[in-house]
Amino acid sequence: MPTAPGPPRIPAAHEFHDTDIDIDIDTDIDRAHGPYDLPVPAYVPTRVVFGGGTAGDLAALVRERLGERLRGRPFRRVLVVVGRRTAAKPWQETAIGACRELGAALVVENPRANPTPESVQTVLEAARRHRADAVVAIGGGSVLDTAKTAALLAGGGRSVEGALREGVPQARTTALVAVPTTAGSGAEVTRTATVWDERGGRKRALDHAGLFPDLAVVDPLLTMSAPGAVWASCGLDALSQAVESSWAVAATDESARFSLPAVRMAADGLDAVLADPDDERARTRLSRASVLAGLAIAGTRTTVPHAVSYPLTLRRGIPHGHACALTLGAVLRFNAAVTAADCRDPRGAEHSKDALRAITRALRTPTPAAARRRIDDLVRRLGLPPLRAYGPADCADIVDDVVSYSRFDNNPRHMTRTRLAALLRAESAR
Ligand SMILES: [Fe+2]
Repeated sequence: MPTAPGPPRIPAAHEFHDTDIDIDIDTDIDRAHGPYDLPVPAYVPTRVVFGGGTAGDLAALVRERLGERLRGRPFRRVLVVVGRRTAAKPWQETAIGACRELGAALVVENPRANPTPESVQTVLEAARRHRADAVVAIGGGSVLDTAKTAALLAGGGRSVEGALREGVPQARTTALVAVPTTAGSGAEVTRTATVWDERGGRKRALDHAGLFPDLAVVDPLLTMSAPGAVWASCGLDALSQAVESSWAVAATDESARFSLPAVRMAADGLDAVLADPDDERARTRLSRASVLAGLAIAGTRTTVPHAVSYPLTLRRGIPHGHACALTLGAVLRFNAAVTAADCRDPRGAEHSKDALRAITRALRTPTPAAARRRIDDLVRRLGLPPLRAYGPADCADIVDDVVSYSRFDNNPRHMTRTRLAALLRAESAR
């Protein structure tokens, strides 16, 4: 393995300046430097290897980085979970081939995007039948969430539905490696897995320390085959996660060291990929933003725009990241007007205002109003329709759903049912 260059410096929240944020990202695609380990916050146990071409070294990286855990014992049986197998993803067979070097591999295609309890159960049963001692997930957020859940439950007897209802009593006994192929969800470094309950009309989630993968291998070059609509929505998910994590009540100095650079990299990365979808540097920037945002929300969780997105995805079929971004700008302006009377953060309104100023600067804008315009403008230039395209005009049908998600407590400014209804009404009329 080539010598790794030093990790990038990530500034603390209080020392956040424009110049700090432009870490030396362009060296990441210089393959001569090889893959290197990204720094992670103390609350994330996952080892993260980043760099263009890293997926080609998957078997060697797993042996090297998980050597301690393996204690000289190679995997015997590996379940490989992938997205749809297609010639448009030439790297897919290379990565699957690398998994075969690790042990007897069973390859399963993730049954569907936006996984349901039933679709995840299918993959869980494959893991149990194969008696997998390792699960390798190679795909987008849905593939990663499905594989994470299967790995967590494989060693026990509980079904996916049972786990969602009653939790998971045991630790994970099956090794777990995540190789994201889209830049957005950050699932390769989080302890949650989303399951969409379409019959119940609810987004549900498992939250368990065993859902943190042991190893994440992030290769920006894998994201280049994602179609425009996919990378755009995924990039907006990364941007939303980065922004929401930065203002979250649960944010800390440590999480802000990841979330604030992610805000800038996600917005700049989306601009750059829009300008040239084949630009490896742009893709690298977006991939880095996605991992950093994931590392941030692993500790902070998300807030109102994510809560709004769930019914927009379930009821209107809007892809996750796009659905988050539809109210991100409006909630930014709402939060920027926080006062002592309606601040939810125990550190006070000035602290929250400070976070909003840092987000505004990270977006390279002078005011929250301009920050909002940059976000809305990004959505428009990415060719994604505004909220009004999805009716009904007042969004009254989703308010109850949104309020029922617990993310409101994590928003820095108190968001009431009435305020949310007004915000959605205004957004639908724009
Ligand atoms: Fe998200």
